[in-house]
Parts: sequence; C-alpha cells; structure tokens
Amino acid sequence: MVGYNINNIKITNPILGGIIMSLIKDMSKDELLALKKELEKKFDAFKAENHQLNMSRGKPSPQQLDITEKKVNKLKNFVNYDEIDVRNYGGLSGLRSCRELLSDLTGVPADNIVMGGTSSLNLIYDAVAREFIFGSNGCKAWHKLDKVKFLCPVPGYDRHFAILEEFGIEMINIEMDENGPDMDTVEKLAAEDESIKGIMCVPLYANPNGVCYSDETSERLAKMKTAAKDFRLFWDNAYGIHHIYKETKLANIFELCKKYGTQDRLLYFFSFSKVTYPGSSISMVAGSDNTVKEIIRRMSIQTIGHDKVNQLRHVELFKNAEGVYSHMRELAEVLRPKFDIVLDTLEKELKDTGLLTWNKPNGGYFISADTIEGCAKETIRLTKEAGVIMTDAGATYPYKNDPKDTNIRIAPTYPSEEELQSAMNIFCVCVKLAGVNKLLGGKE
Ligand SMILES: Cc1ncc(COP(=O)(O)O)c(C=O)c1O
Repeated sequence: MVGYNINNIKITNPILGGIIMSLIKDMSKDELLALKKELEKKFDAFKAENHQLNMSRGKPSPQQLDITEKKVNKLKNFVNYDEIDVRNYGGLSGLRSCRELLSDLTGVPADNIVMGGTSSLNLIYDAVAREFIFGSNGCKAWHKLDKVKFLCPVPGYDRHFAILEEFGIEMINIEMDENGPDMDTVEKLAAEDESIKGIMCVPLYANPNGVCYSDETSERLAKMKTAAKDFRLFWDNAYGIHHIYKETKLANIFELCKKYGTQDRLLYFFSFSKVTYPGSSISMVAGSDNTVKEIIRRMSIQTIGHDKVNQLRHVELFKNAEGVYSHMRELAEVLRPKFDIVLDTLEKELKDTGLLTWNKPNGGYFISADTIEGCAKETIRLTKEAGVIMTDAGATYPYKNDPKDTNIRIAPTYPSEEELQSAMNIFCVCVKLAGVNKLLGGKE
C-alpha cells in the first residue's frame, strides 16, 4: 500500500479552479469553509449534468469481451474428441487437455485438478458446504460444532464474506500489509483456537487492494501449525495471471504444502472469468490426492459433469499456456489506460490533501482507497447523488462492517475511458467534500 504523509505542501488544484491550498487536513476553520463552498459549487454542477456512471463491479468491458469473441468466432469444429467424446456424459473431473493447460498456469499437477462450471465462486461455496454438511479428515461436520470461525484478510472480496455469513461462520478480520495478511496474528490464532477452520486468501492482486502475497507469507501459510485438523487454506487465485503493469510471481503453494506435509489443507481455486467470458468460462478446484478423491466422490452425487464442450473450446482457443499469456497481454493493453486514468486523477487531485490514501496495484481488477476515518459511507452517498454508482462502503469487510469506515473499492474495468474520467472527477470532489465536512465537524 502506498501511504502519503505530506506536510503543508502548497499546490494548485485544477478541479478547484486554481485555488492554492495547504494540506486540507491542517486547514483552519475559515479555510475549510471557503473550500467547502467551492466544492459544493463543483458538486452541484456535476449533479446538473445528470451523470449515470457505474464503477461498482469488477466486470470486463465489452471491448475486452470483443477481443475474445474475435478468436472464438474463428474456431471451427471445436466439438471434436479428446480422450473422451466431449459431447457425451463422462469425464467428471474434466478434460485432461484442459486440466493440463490449467496445470501449466497454476503449477498444480493435472491429476490434482477438478474442473467446475462457469464460476469458481460456485466451487468455493461447494467446498464450504461439503465441510459444513459432511466434514473431512475424520473431523466432525461443521454444522455439528457450536462455533466455526474463519480468518478473513481485510479488506477483501464481498462474495467470500457472503458465503461464510450464509453458513453462520464467524469471521475474524486480519489486517494486511504489502506482503499479505498479518502472519503473526494468523499463526497465533490458528494455533490456539480449534474452532478456526480456515482462511480466505486471494494471493495475487487481491480484491480489492492488489496486494500480492510474498514468498514468506505463502510459506508460513503452508507451514503453520493449526489447532483444527480440518483447517482449510482457501487459495482463490482469481487474478493469478492478470498482470497489468508488471508481472508478479507467486510461490507454488501446492509444492509448499507438500513440502510441509500439509497438502490436505489446500483448496486452490482458479477460473477464466476474466480471461474469456465471465458468463461462460471454465473454473477449477485443486488439492491433494485425498482432497481430489473426496471432491469427486461428492461431486459424482451432485452432477453428471460440467460443460466439456466449453473446456475443449478453451483448449482449442489457447493451445497452451503461452497462448493464454499472450491473450492476457492483449487484455492488459485495454486495462492499463483505465488504471492510469484512476491513478493519475487520484494523484493530481488528492495526493497532497491528506484526505485519501490508495494503492497502486501491478495487476488485478481493483484499486483500493482509504478516506480519513468515518468518511467512506458519506463519500459513496455523495457520488451516488452526483450520478456515480460505486461499490457500497463497507462491502470489503465481513458483515459489511468497515470498523473505521474508510475503505472504498474502485473498479475501473467496465466503463469506457471517457466515462471513467468523468466518474473519477466526480469521485475526487466527493472525497474532498466528505473530508472537509468531517474536519469542519471536528472544529465546531
Ligand atoms: C477474488 C475473487 N474470487 C472469485 C471471483 C469470482 O470468480 P468466478 O467468476 O470464477 O466465480 C471474483 C470475481 O470478482 C473475485 O474477485
């Protein structure tokens, strides 16, 4: 995370029409009142423009989907044969060729991969449900226990938290730094509390703060002692190949768990939702030999199989890992200017105000920003009033409860560059207005 701590720098702010201002946080009451007036004028002008902009969800833009579609349209006769007839029943764990492609991308052996349907979130839900209903590793099913708890690095992905909440699992916030979750706390809690059954990790370009787990963090997660025999390391590598500015390497968690004899702990998830089509992609879950056996056993009751025609379509489209990487480089060309717009506008408008800090991710789908305490909800309320829908404040925390009310998730991928620039101009004024009002409240 990049934090700004700049003292009394004088700047000229173009959005405020050339007002010279010092660090807003340090302004006198009179200076703040003058600034508030200017900001309200700007805000009212934005409102009068009747914007309808949406920066709320991490969806690929139509431009990204079109890049994929051009290639899909060139495919002929993709319904051919792998080791089985893809048109028919059979092959519950998915096409071998597809699992081999995913193996090259994730570093997990193809034999330890099970294909899912279009959504990895579905596989994550199923993994929690299996433990909850049936249990694993000779341990009691979680529904039979008084209390089940999970460690949740924050800020995090709202849908992970929604699944855990749905099953009545108590979520414990774990702070993060630039290396991943606070491992001292993770190790301590996991070692002393048997009711802690897992941790939710997005190890590369985490949603929303773009944090990439260091090799040391990955190793400690694989190595740590856990009081629960059925502790599960949910490794949701949703952005594992989604580099934008610079490629960040992730340690091979499968190998690390093998090295420390904790291979049954790992549940590795991955999907092509942001590679091809979120509505029609491929997903996988991987784990130890035991875990895969258990998943297949349960899955064989649940379904006859997932969409193998689509799996083959993906193999035919990319051929090999290099085919996927080259496609991702094309998509990054579309995403980079959008991330630039967000980062440049934040830098220009808010860098020296003391009202917002933000991260500069090297990949993924989001930028995470933090207002001063108690201002995130108000900022989002103001952006909505001015016609910009953003992810709800609080959504990045378990129970939608951001204890300091600071975190805001910016999702730049879906809007056009023009829309994004307008949305960011409005956002910056709203951050300032909410911040100035908060500071004025403290001076009454
Ligand atoms: C961390 C994370 N995991 C999973 C998903 C959903 O993936 P899928 O479309 O494969 O269900 C998302 C989508 O935003 C995500 O950010």
